[in-house]
Amino acid sequence: MKRIPRLIAALDVETAAGAAGLVGALSGTVDYFKVGSRLFTAEGPGMIRELKEGGVSVFLDLKFHDIPATVAGSVRAAAGLGVDMMTIHTCGGLPMMRAAAEAAMEASLKNNTARPLIVGVTVLTSMSSEDLIDVSCYEGDVESLVLRRAKLAAAAGLDGVVASVREASAVRREFGPDFVIVTPGIRPAGAASGDQKRVASPRAAMESGSSHLVVGRPIYDAPSPRDAAEAILAELRG
Ligand code: C5P
Repeated sequence: MKRIPRLIAALDVETAAGAAGLVGALSGTVDYFKVGSRLFTAEGPGMIRELKEGGVSVFLDLKFHDIPATVAGSVRAAAGLGVDMMTIHTCGGLPMMRAAAEAAMEASLKNNTARPLIVGVTVLTSMSSEDLIDVSCYEGDVESLVLRRAKLAAAAGLDGVVASVREASAVRREFGPDFVIVTPGIRPAGAASGDQKRVASPRAAMESGSSHLVVGRPIYDAPSPRDAAEAILAELRG
């Protein structure tokens, strides 16, 4: 019996008003709201404070990738805003990931708050093996690179990784039942894949062992975002 993954709605809109409208429409359905670079750049940290004041769980997806001291500072700042989960990029290397994990722990002790989950982005779900070769990053297949980066993330003390459904079962096998696997590129039947290349249905992601599903356009572009989220939950509950 597979565990039903947590549903994360991406607030990939440009204004606080647009985000508030989506949060209102989806209240009580999804488990987390994801603030990415689009909304954060437009509206800033006040947006996160407003969401937290509204009592919702926030996933800050800014994919931090910098020197260890800078990433540690960014993680502390995000923890101070009260985010529940955030992304860093595994490309930043082991010392950077360790610094992020330690900063999250220190911030939660200092602020007396729950420690935010830190997950490492492995390979963007919009990238294929050919794209990896183009950026002179890797000549192997995507799955082996994801596993290699997931190993580093686990060694650094991260809570899990972001990986597509194609790699989720291998990651689950290797890292056990408690490792967080956040999977974007989720497309219910009939939804357009857009720029995503490694896509799958909500059910397929669940069967592959993803613990958290990120859904953007199939929810926020739907005529009724709430109906779209409920249809995904119904598919997951079978
Ligand atoms: O609209 P769609 O469902 O494709 O949105 C997926 C969301 O997940 C976007 O906000 C994107 O930034 C994010 N994401 C991703 N691939 C990753 C990490 C995050 O698509 N590896």
